[in-house]
Amino acid sequence: MTLPTDVTIVEVGPRDGLQNEPGVVATDVKVGFIDRLARTGLPVVEATSFVHPTWVPQLADAGEVMDAIDRLDGVRYPVLVPNERGLDGALEHRADEVAVFGAASEAFSRKNINRSIDESLEMFAPVVSRAKDEGLRVRGYVSTVLGCPYQGEVPLADVVRVTTAMFELGVDEVSLGDTIGVGTPGAVRGLVRALAGEVDLGRLAVHMHDTYGQGLANTLTALEEGVSIADTSAGGLGGCPYAPGAKGNLATEDLVYALHGSGVTTGVDLDALVDTSAWMADQLGRAPASRAAQAILSKRDRA
Ligand code: HMG
Ligand code: MG
Repeated sequence: MTLPTDVTIVEVGPRDGLQNEPGVVATDVKVGFIDRLARTGLPVVEATSFVHPTWVPQLADAGEVMDAIDRLDGVRYPVLVPNERGLDGALEHRADEVAVFGAASEAFSRKNINRSIDESLEMFAPVVSRAKDEGLRVRGYVSTVLGCPYQGEVPLADVVRVTTAMFELGVDEVSLGDTIGVGTPGAVRGLVRALAGEVDLGRLAVHMHDTYGQGLANTLTALEEGVSIADTSAGGLGGCPYAPGAKGNLATEDLVYALHGSGVTTGVDLDALVDTSAWMADQLGRAPASRAAQAILSKRDRA
């Protein structure tokens, strides 16, 4: 097993990171964060969510953010949309890609989007078909693929069922979320192998939260098993409002450092990324959680 030669990193900090901040980050800071991230060479910067503002007040300014960002050619700026109302907002504010978000666990699905799994797939169907008709790229998240905060273990068969159903709806790519970061490399290997015979691995992404410090090992394991898209957040920002105890995503800097050191291309300028995380950390008043960012920043201090 070897790593792919190129990995596509999907930066989720402005959405997954900022949706979990205790306070609401100012719109201009969000825009500054997204614009700086896009200039580091990241090919995809997930920008915000068109969801109910009572459920996620941190991202209630989704439309303003989408109107203000400086869109670079070649960079995609996906937004989360749970339903047609969300899609309307995404279209009105010129999103180029949307993501529907379901779960492999029944209990998480109900807590997160107030729908059973089957109801959620029914809710997504018109969203995906309308988005495709409008020429948008569509991503589908499947959360809780390696464990659920409410249900505990999640059978692999359920992950395979929901992932396959997402592709049947017509999504271009499915991101597998270890929402609460409980997975291990062995579990990830089993997960990817369970999906390998069922779906195109080239259209899968992994989305590893780093609660137990396994995010990097888990992501590298998936990449060794044939996945080539990974979601991360700059500085390791994040968590999940409906997953008690979930920590941030694997930090983008940690993955970029590991991949570049292993001869894998990402297109990302690591120094510029660390500058961006340091800038965002200043806005939030705390140091980035990323170990690679901390190491690079302290090396710079000593130079
Ligand atoms: P609901 O209450 O069942 O919605 O919520 P509803 O369809 O019954 O509508 C109720 C009201 O909400 C109506 O307004 C709708 O218009 C309004 P009223 O008629 O009462 O005035 N409404 C909306 N307003 C704004 N934007 C919308 C929207 N839709 C309906 N899009 C709903 C269902 C899905 C809307 C709600 O549960 C929700 O917004 N949930 C958001 C959950 C969320 O964002 N979670 C975090 C993201 S997922 C995640 O972080 C995991 C991930 O990172 C992967 C991983 O780590 O595993 C992706
Ligand atoms: Mg997440």
